[in-house]
Amino acid sequence: MRLRHETEADHDTVRRVIEAAFGREDEAHLVDRLRAEGDAAISLVAEVDGRIAGHVMFSPMRSPAGALGLAPVSVRPDLHGNGIGGALIREGLEEARKRGFTACFVLGDPPYYTRFGFTPERARGYATPFAGPFLMALDLTPGALSGEGELAYARAFDDLAE
Ligand SMILES: CC(C)(COP(=O)(O)OP(=O)(O)OC[C@H]1O[C@@H](n2cnc3c(N)ncnc32)[C@H](O)[C@@H]1OP(=O)(O)O)[C@@H](O)C(=O)NCCC(=O)NCCS
Repeated sequence: MRLRHETEADHDTVRRVIEAAFGREDEAHLVDRLRAEGDAAISLVAEVDGRIAGHVMFSPMRSPAGALGLAPVSVRPDLHGNGIGGALIREGLEEARKRGFTACFVLGDPPYYTRFGFTPERARGYATPFAGPFLMALDLTPGALSGEGELAYARAFDDLAE
């Protein structure tokens, strides 16, 4: 498996991988919109045998400043369970740390995301319609998250919240 940054030439294949992973088009549209609005802060692909097998996107949060939102992460269904999603997430978090992002939020299944260090506790206290056990966060610099204020993903997510 090889991890690398997405290029423009990958967009169509990435779209197909996302649609196959989720079984619908919403998340692929979200990724298109994040790119169009300049919010594709970290967009990585995983290649297996020279073909794109997975993708992950991290976008800057409007609030808290300096934090990233992780979404979506997609792996071709025929390749689930081979560590591809985990490798993409770990690599993205490592790059985020190096680039000085302070924290990362994710909305998803706790049994999956807690293995990367995300916890519902670190996301607690923020004002958001997503508050609850599925909202998790991870400090990329120690103590970055104050647990106060509004939580706002990049604008492309606004339609999904409706
Ligand atoms: C979630 C997803 C990206 C994981 O990719 P993957 O390459 O299969 O994941 P990995 O191989 O790194 O990890 C597999 C492990 O995660 C677990 N896992 C996968 N999806 C999970 C979920 N939704 N909830 C809990 N655990 C999950 C598997 O059971 C497996 O557990 P094990 O290591 O104890 O055997 C992939 O299943 C996928 O594309 N799903 C559809 C899209 C989606 O739901 N994305 C996440 C929401 S943004």
